[in-house]
Amino acid sequence: MWGVVCVFGFVVVMSHAAEALDNGLALKPTMGWLHWERFMCNTDCDRDPDNCISERLYMQMADVMVKEGWKDAGYEYVCIDDCWPSHQRDAQGRLQADPNRFPGGIKKLADYVHSKGLKLGIYADVGKKTCAGYPGSFGYYETDAQTFADWGVDLLKYDGCYLDWQLLGEGYINMSKALNKTGKSILYSCEWPLYEWPFHQPNYTAIRETCNHWRNFADVYDSWSSIKTILDWSADHQDIIVPAAGPGGWNDPDMLVIGNFGLSHDQQESQMALWAIMAAPLLMSNDLRDICPRSKELLQNKHIIAISQDPLGKQGYRTAKMDSFEVWERPLSEKRLAVAILNKQEIGGPRGYLLAAIPGWKFCNPKCSVIQILPQYKDMGVQPIQSDIMVHVNPSGTTLLTLTPTSSNTTGLHWQDMSNKRKHTTVL
Ligand code: GLA
Repeated sequence: MWGVVCVFGFVVVMSHAAEALDNGLALKPTMGWLHWERFMCNTDCDRDPDNCISERLYMQMADVMVKEGWKDAGYEYVCIDDCWPSHQRDAQGRLQADPNRFPGGIKKLADYVHSKGLKLGIYADVGKKTCAGYPGSFGYYETDAQTFADWGVDLLKYDGCYLDWQLLGEGYINMSKALNKTGKSILYSCEWPLYEWPFHQPNYTAIRETCNHWRNFADVYDSWSSIKTILDWSADHQDIIVPAAGPGGWNDPDMLVIGNFGLSHDQQESQMALWAIMAAPLLMSNDLRDICPRSKELLQNKHIIAISQDPLGKQGYRTAKMDSFEVWERPLSEKRLAVAILNKQEIGGPRGYLLAAIPGWKFCNPKCSVIQILPQYKDMGVQPIQSDIMVHVNPSGTTLLTLTPTSSNTTGLHWQDMSNKRKHTTVL
């Protein structure tokens, strides 16, 4: 897409890597809750009624989202993952919810979620079966899109199990068209590239035109090693995936597992900071009915959410990797820059990192106003380009900052142009 805009009297021609799916949705990274990582395929409602995949789970989550400030913080979608349907389609060939676990059916659940001012997400699969073995949509794209639209569903997570990889593109595109044809606004969350990567490099132009976000890499687990693997994959492929992201279409590194069992508090801060830098959907998979106050405060931190939802809509990326530190930077609106400094050394104590060593610091000429957001909010004042101030970062923790230049620099180069420099990630 080419657009012409007027900036300070100059006409600037802007190019975008590709046009986004034109359904008016996901102009900012999606925020909500998704059941998979925490509740998986627990269908045993007799013995585990509080944690099984049933209408009760989503109704309770919706209630808590309103009562406990989640909705006010921006979390909007309550999303069902795999294992919701009956193993049989109905007489008309339509998917139907398991009657014992969803006695009211999905339409009634959607009405309930909407009555709380929230939106409902559902899950299906482009192939013959879902990953957990429930009926897939292959051969039923239009029927399933219409069924979801009739129920009032607002988001579809579309998995890619049980389909020959060469048919993935056609299947994902056909479902996108089928959703569009219903005339309802249904956010389309894909896993297309994840299932293509083992065979070839996916076509991100086509993916961005088809989906509102897309999973690239393996499922997140409740562990620091899982988070690190996702970050490593994202940085190793940033030249390919970052240009595809922008309003209407985002890379999805999978759910936030903050508030569960596997991450220390520092590691939870790292996940939150890096997901905001990556302009990732913020889909929590945890038990909002029972979450520790520190995790809740972190997930509802308005300064981090503001970075995630920044209107410039540019995805950040890794700009330096040295001495077991990683620096990730994201250009923000109003000429600000978000910077995450991650200490990957999992031995010892907090380690110092010089502000002046941040690659984007070169734009702090002559000065930058520095705000620390994590681990604690702190106004660090105005710092000169020669600053010798250090931040101290805990092992597997992250210091998250925003930098604002005090006056525009004269070189004409701004960090919003940093994407051109992406290949120059410093590795020492
Ligand atoms: C795949 C997806 C997961 C989840 C499961 C459900 O593994 O990547 O996010 O949806 O299927 O079976």
